[in-house]
Amino acid sequence: MFRTHTCGELRQANLGETVTLSGWVHRARKMGGMTFVDIRDRYGVTQLIFNQESDANLCEEANGLGREYVIQITGKVAERSSKNPNIDTGDIEILVSELNILNKSKTPPFTIEDNTDGGDDLRMKYRYLDLRRNNVRSNMILRHQMAFETRRYLDQLGFLEVETPILIGSTPEGARDFVVPSRMNPGEFYALPQSPQLFKQLLMVSGFDRYFQIAKCFRDEDLRADRQPEFTQIDCEMSFVEQEDVLNIFEGMVKHLFKFVKDIDLTEAFPRMTWADAMKYYGSDKPDIRFGMRFVELKEAVSGHDFVVFDSVEYVGGICAEGCAAYTRKQLDELTDFVKRPQIGAKGLVYIKCEEDSTFKSSVDKFYSQDDLKQIAQLFDAKAGDLILILAGDKRKTQKALGELRLEMGSRLGFRDKNVFAPLWVIDFPLFEWDDETQRFYAMHHPFTSPNKEDIPLLDTDPGAVRATAYDMVVNGVELGGGSIRIHDSELQNRMFKLLGFTPEQAENQFGFLMSAFQYGAPPHGGLAFGLDRFVSLFAGLDSIRDCIAFPKNNSGRDVMMDAPSKIDPAQLDELNLIVNLKEQ
Ligand code: AMO
Repeated sequence: MFRTHTCGELRQANLGETVTLSGWVHRARKMGGMTFVDIRDRYGVTQLIFNQESDANLCEEANGLGREYVIQITGKVAERSSKNPNIDTGDIEILVSELNILNKSKTPPFTIEDNTDGGDDLRMKYRYLDLRRNNVRSNMILRHQMAFETRRYLDQLGFLEVETPILIGSTPEGARDFVVPSRMNPGEFYALPQSPQLFKQLLMVSGFDRYFQIAKCFRDEDLRADRQPEFTQIDCEMSFVEQEDVLNIFEGMVKHLFKFVKDIDLTEAFPRMTWADAMKYYGSDKPDIRFGMRFVELKEAVSGHDFVVFDSVEYVGGICAEGCAAYTRKQLDELTDFVKRPQIGAKGLVYIKCEEDSTFKSSVDKFYSQDDLKQIAQLFDAKAGDLILILAGDKRKTQKALGELRLEMGSRLGFRDKNVFAPLWVIDFPLFEWDDETQRFYAMHHPFTSPNKEDIPLLDTDPGAVRATAYDMVVNGVELGGGSIRIHDSELQNRMFKLLGFTPEQAENQFGFLMSAFQYGAPPHGGLAFGLDRFVSLFAGLDSIRDCIAFPKNNSGRDVMMDAPSKIDPAQLDELNLIVNLKEQ
């Protein structure tokens, strides 16, 4: 038997027992005639004592133990004279009588500690060692609990978990596909699923009624802190449902996870906000509503004062940062630089300081009297000590930039506490998104999203104004999930394809099997998918989803541990009938 207990298990109640433990040498230190070794496993750390006086040979052997050696010990549980309240086993120690080295270890390239000395790249290269660290492991445990509770909740409601294939044709989520060459079909490629979207709709046609899957998805897109090329969805679909049914079931799931994983009772119904309001008041389709600082539109109020910037643009809007009137020149310059960053794209920043003596100081004093500034400040309900920040330009771009500025101010003011959770449904997304570059509409969600019934007449006259029955679950400004009620009628689907610029042949080529399935009795259906990685990161308070993935890719999409992607053997290429002939970059 390798062990009688784990390294996190022993307490005062075990005093006097002879026990056997197995684990890794976490730390070893020599003090006088004693050697202290901390032995670690997944469950915790236990202090071992080797006593020179009682067994010199054994103590000598213990002095030779290196970090991360795998050992087995037998000894007696004793009470510690100086207890360690920081660990569960801190009241006891083991007086070791037998030591067995199960395996030696090279000195690890970084310390296996919560605050390790290893940089990101090094930790990723030796991810199996990184995973020994408490904080990384606890993220994996949290992930397990969330997946488990998800299954428990959905199973109770009759959802069936069905696996769908990984080697498929292209799916329509709007990113680039990862492709896999087929040996048996020379010159042909599979695509990896961007989501199981088409399969779950087919399962509804098959009568499965309630489906879910914790599914791997693959998208070849530019990476960010909340994006990985390979990620996991809690993917769900239901038949005979309307939007309200889907929102209720999955609001229930989010509440279930909060309760059973985080021990947080979210008793209130989640607020809902239309996409139009989210853009108008927060400049984002995923507003962080942990704090207010809603936008105030100012175009009317500020026009006609000979200030060309405001007069000439489509949109002027601002936010009010409470208590920030004391911002220095330097701080305001920093904010101006922030909004001028290329990824934010504003041209400049106008401020109004509401001074304690009820006067106003502004970067546009020249054009606006004290009275004008007072009226503007009133639109924000601004008080003495507040700072109003204003951006101007094209509507959408400026709203987005103002949204970023709002988040920045929210962070500076401490409004974005990771232990506060503000869930929100964003509903009534537009069905289409216009792209200036290609001069055509794209599906904002995907081409199977059903238009809002009331808006169907607008499909031909004003497609840009058609609302979709699509919804996103947003928590703390993170899009955790999204979905829609689907089109189940072939005629409407064909109209959609036409509006999206598909020729009948293209639609047939790409989605013929789905359209064919829809001719055999497709029930009304809808669903959604949550990003599991984002959900876990939110619960763990992580800045990047990488930290809750056992073996993630780095920012260039590389697995630095396996060194993938990599060139393949010429013989493998030969089998695939492929010649690699790279285009010049
Ligand atoms: P969508 O594309 O909105 O919808 O994806 C659903 C959720 O998946 C997560 N997500 C990602 N997480 C990590 N890395 C990525 N690259 C990534 N891309 C998406 C997000 C997102 O909200 N088939 C539809 C769902 C449906 O209509 O039912 C879909 O995939 O949390």
